[in-house]
Amino acid sequence: MRYFIGNWKMFGVPKSINILNKINYFHSKDKNRKNYRVIITPPYTLIENYAKYFKNKSISIGSQNCYQKDQFSSDTAAVSPFMIKSAGAEYTLVGHSDNRSEGDTDKMLKNKVFFALKNKLKVVFCIGENKKEKKNKRTLSVLKKQLTKVLDKKFNKKNIIVAYEPIWSIGSGKIPTKDELKKTTIYIKKVLKSIFGKQTPAVLYGGSVDGSNVKMFKEIKEIDGFLIGGASKSSKKFIDILKNYYR
Ligand code: PGA
Repeated sequence: MRYFIGNWKMFGVPKSINILNKINYFHSKDKNRKNYRVIITPPYTLIENYAKYFKNKSISIGSQNCYQKDQFSSDTAAVSPFMIKSAGAEYTLVGHSDNRSEGDTDKMLKNKVFFALKNKLKVVFCIGENKKEKKNKRTLSVLKKQLTKVLDKKFNKKNIIVAYEPIWSIGSGKIPTKDELKKTTIYIKKVLKSIFGKQTPAVLYGGSVDGSNVKMFKEIKEIDGFLIGGASKSSKKFIDILKNYYR
């Protein structure tokens, strides 16, 4: 199974559902549709509306983040996994670099993953090194730490997906070389194997994925799909990625 996850970030109003309608239509008619899943993570404000609309349709709805507590609390503006699940989402991202840079610690992320899984959300756990860490050849050790500090062998690995997103690649148009990315993806799977045993969670790549570079990514068989930011805000750009991946 391959995953194409569109992360809308701070984008979208109710009528932006038209973008998803076009993607949904393409997916529902695509002869390759059984081979992949499309998930979109709109902002919190749109989850309930979109999840209701796309229930029993091709695409699934997720959240971009969740709070590190279970149900209700007195934390202003916090949205819990319970609330997200109740709004109809099936997935949630956890640990996106945008949120790590706002202060998400490994301990908080572990609680987020724990409570998300407890509330029957599938977790897309994001990891990635920054530019300086890459320059200092610390990529693999950083990734290992991010994985082992948060993912626990007691977690249900069937409901976890890992998204590798080098921070320097997000929104920059810069992407890793094919060799580099293959090596890194294999390493991530090795670390996941050490945590979970043989069958590891799927590992996605994210960072400046578009309709033209997806052909290169496709050649790396270890990559199980993509987390797509900028290009997911346009139905044409998102569909181009799907078309070119399966061409
Ligand atoms: P991008 O974002 O595709 O715009 O680089 C990816 C992400 O942040 O998930």
